[in-house]
Amino acid sequence: MTQDELKQAVARAAIDYVVDNEIIGVGTGSTANFFIDELAKIKHRIKGAVASSEATAARLRGHGIEVFDLNDVPAIAVYIDGADEITNTGAMIKGGGAALTREKIVASVSGQFVCIADGSKLVDVMGKFPLPVEVLPMARASVTRALAAIGGTPKLRLKAGTDEAFITDNGGMIIDVAGLSITDPVALEQQINQIVGVIAVGLFAARGANVCLLGMADGVKTLK
Ligand code: A5P
Repeated sequence: MTQDELKQAVARAAIDYVVDNEIIGVGTGSTANFFIDELAKIKHRIKGAVASSEATAARLRGHGIEVFDLNDVPAIAVYIDGADEITNTGAMIKGGGAALTREKIVASVSGQFVCIADGSKLVDVMGKFPLPVEVLPMARASVTRALAAIGGTPKLRLKAGTDEAFITDNGGMIIDVAGLSITDPVALEQQINQIVGVIAVGLFAARGANVCLLGMADGVKTLK
């Protein structure tokens, strides 16, 4: 099976977690895109969706799924999204697609976080994937220094093929921190959240996934 086929398999399996007549929270990235395509097939069963990025909102609307502003939605039953790394306790690194802040916000008001990922994302200790941190542009240098002091190697994310900083949907910049071995994800998430100028860190540990659907060669494995 290719990696895309594994992603498609978990996207299909996630449909079982969709709650009828509700608004669903939808993540960002290639796995989330496969999920949106599956969701489109049962769109008559849901009220609509809250999107975690402009790209996701556009894809949902392209399928004729209504996209709600989070401010108009009191609560979300289920949030479905991918991850860059996940542990078997549901802690995740997210933000490879730069949508970490909105992902964290939507996840925070959702009853259940269902993570969908191909099996390569499961790790014992997170940190091989550089940890994305979204920052206010004026704090780029000071936050970079603070992240280096934690022990990682921070690097400003650039727009592909340029030497200009990548700018997020929120007007922020992303610093990717390589070389961390994240043995206490909850503590590190708290520590980075406290750096002034950080908008959000792509560690989802205090609030991790409740369920993870992992695409393996022999089928979809469910971790709870
Ligand atoms: C987007 O900002 C990320 O958090 C994605 O959920 C994560 O990068 C996984 O992306 P893929 O599904 O493309 O691997």
